[in-house]
Amino acid sequence: MLGPKGGFRLPAVQARLPPSRSIYAYIFRTRFLASAALTACVIIFWRSISTSAADMQKFYCFGPSKSPMEMTPNDASDWSGLDTPVIFNHHAPLEINSSTIINYDLNPIKSTADGLENKERVLILTPLRDADKHLEKYFELLVKLTYPHDLIDLGFLVGDSSDTTLAKLAAEVERVQKKTDKTAFRSVKIIQKDFGGIAYSQDVEARHAFEAQAIRRKAIGKARNYLLYSALAPDHSWVYWRDVDIVDSPPPIIQDMILHDKDIIVPNIWFHRYENDRDIEGRFDYNSWQESPEGLELAASLSKDTVLVEGYPEYVSNRTYMAKMGHWTKNKDEEIELDGIGGVNIMVKADVHRSGINFPCYAFENQAETEGFGKMAKRAGYQVIGLPNYVVWHIDTLEKPKEPRKP
Ligand SMILES: *[C@@H]1O[C@H](CO)[C@@H](O)[C@H](O)[C@H]1NC(C)=O
Ligand SMILES: *[C@@H]1O[C@H](CO)[C@@H](O)[C@H](O)[C@H]1NC(C)=O
Repeated sequence: MLGPKGGFRLPAVQARLPPSRSIYAYIFRTRFLASAALTACVIIFWRSISTSAADMQKFYCFGPSKSPMEMTPNDASDWSGLDTPVIFNHHAPLEINSSTIINYDLNPIKSTADGLENKERVLILTPLRDADKHLEKYFELLVKLTYPHDLIDLGFLVGDSSDTTLAKLAAEVERVQKKTDKTAFRSVKIIQKDFGGIAYSQDVEARHAFEAQAIRRKAIGKARNYLLYSALAPDHSWVYWRDVDIVDSPPPIIQDMILHDKDIIVPNIWFHRYENDRDIEGRFDYNSWQESPEGLELAASLSKDTVLVEGYPEYVSNRTYMAKMGHWTKNKDEEIELDGIGGVNIMVKADVHRSGINFPCYAFENQAETEGFGKMAKRAGYQVIGLPNYVVWHIDTLEKPKEPRKP
């Protein structure tokens, strides 16, 4: 009944043909329709199973001829196709010979209390502007530092100077680096960058001084950042900010600061001078302070662009100043928490800087430069610590920040 293509063989059907009307009636009889539908089903079914023997592979039973209970884990994984180990890009270690490709592993670079034993590297950074008169003293103290000099790199930024700072610096650095008695430092970098337009004198009238201070602090912040980004190397563990106008500091100051193992730590800054054969001591740096509720309130009342500067009558912050605490005769290891810090002498774990904490040259929480640095570090969750009884002596200068007024 089925032709080569599964259709009816019409001539055979026609041979027994009744008259056309009865064919018509016959076709529409239920039994005929049912048998036609059944025939169609049989054809479709047959076509689906009667294809080539290759298609029968679909029903091939693969895997080991064992019950799953008897399979080893490897058999099971082969059988299921799961957990099959895959090795991508399997190759021998790469050998990179190009001298233009440099690899630094920062993972072993740590900043710890054992910095001295671990031979942790220290970067000393000093921004300079019209500072030639201070350089001799600066290097006199620098060479006395007892931290091994071959672990110390120096970085200077000379900018906006109209005196002989650069020449004097170059001469001093060469003198020190030529020494063969372990005085020479590991390396020295001198960065030159003029920012321009920072006309500021302490003599200007007080009512202009406040605004000028904010501009000056932003400019110094920018200079510090340029110096930091130009000098920080991958192997530095500590960054030690040291101003040029320090007149006395303990030779082991680097070890002393590192031992505290704090993210950021500053000593207290005093000044002294001889007057009529009398040694006059004073507290210098009012930029290291603890925030007060009144200071926060004051900041909240200001525009976000206003930079607060301590010591001017325009704004009274009622903060607690480290300069007013402590004494150099007391326990040098005593620590206090700070929110803002001064820049005369700061020890920083290099990773704090690497993480992006720097010296804002704009108003960050209404502070700029080192005070903004303290605020930013605190915001990022770093420790900011002061040592009220560990004193570094600053030159006595008219530029010293004014003592804040009482509320
Ligand atoms: C890299 O340099 C070493 C030593 O000179 C040499 O033996 C090696 O074949 C070089 N490898 C490649 C990939 O050039
Ligand atoms: C300043 O702070 C002290 C606490 O350090 C507080 O006793 C005093 O009332 C504050 N002064 C003002 C004016 O808010």
